[in-house]
Amino acid sequence: MAASASVYDAVKTHLVASMKRLTTDYVDLYYLHRINEEVSFEEVAAAMGRLIDEGLIRGWGLSQVDVETLAKAHAVTPVSAVQNIYSMVERGCETEVIPYCVNHNIGFVPFSPLASGFLSGKVTVDTKFEEVDDVRKFVPQLKRENIAANQPILDVLADFSKRKKATNAQISLAWMLHKYPNVIPIPGSKNLERILENLAAADVSLTDEEFAQLETALSACTVHGHRGFVETEQHTFGNNWKKKE
Ligand SMILES: NC(=O)c1ccc[n+]([C@@H]2O[C@H](COP(=O)([O-])OP(=O)(O)OC[C@H]3O[C@@H](n4cnc5c(N)ncnc54)[C@H](OP(=O)(O)O)[C@@H]3O)[C@@H](O)[C@H]2O)c1
Repeated sequence: MAASASVYDAVKTHLVASMKRLTTDYVDLYYLHRINEEVSFEEVAAAMGRLIDEGLIRGWGLSQVDVETLAKAHAVTPVSAVQNIYSMVERGCETEVIPYCVNHNIGFVPFSPLASGFLSGKVTVDTKFEEVDDVRKFVPQLKRENIAANQPILDVLADFSKRKKATNAQISLAWMLHKYPNVIPIPGSKNLERILENLAAADVSLTDEEFAQLETALSACTVHGHRGFVETEQHTFGNNWKKKE
């Protein structure tokens, strides 16, 4: 499909404005963060292809997509990366999206890989999210009752952390790095020590036997609550652009 002039022009206008702000003349990976249901995403995919041909972007990615959308987009312009929610407590992508990415040589970039900090074990039932911009107060999985009910998952992590002389956060990341060849998690932190701790997860290697034990222990745990509809249901985001009646 060829990119229609208006879609291509709109995407390019935003890209050029971003490049000006970033003082760069190309972007390595340009994400379509959410799909605007008012616009054909095949046309957006075609526009991304033109921008790649022009050398303005090296590759493009999608965020919080299902496998049908991804396959349609990939058929128009090959996708470089998919950024979806994924962690030990948000494993929906394991059934279709990650296998598709593995099979089509697409990088999979898990966002919220520490379940908004829960998997670090540093969030407890007594943690208060008081900052005005702290979105964790809206995350159902971080409600007191879910933190308490999900404690068995933290017990599994604590056991492995002790065995591997690592932290819970590092085990959470090492688990997904071991599980798939194409996964690049992006844990978020405003704290330098934690950023370095999370980076060092790349040095925590699990043996196949340890990994299998971890998988078995995790699959025996029930996950309570979810991250939230905004992130888990892409369509509610897509509706944000709907024209007012
Ligand atoms: N594509 C999308 O739709 C989407 C949606 C949401 C987020 N994201 C991206 O995903 C990335 C991370 O997601 P996220 O911030 O939601 O979740 P996350 O990485 O699962 O968790 C981040 C939280 O965990 C804490 N934390 C991080 N490392 C820790 C450690 N080693 N020990 C203890 N606590 C630790 C951080 O607190 P401190 O800051 O105090 O360390 C922060 O509150 C961000 O880059 C974000 O932009 C993308």
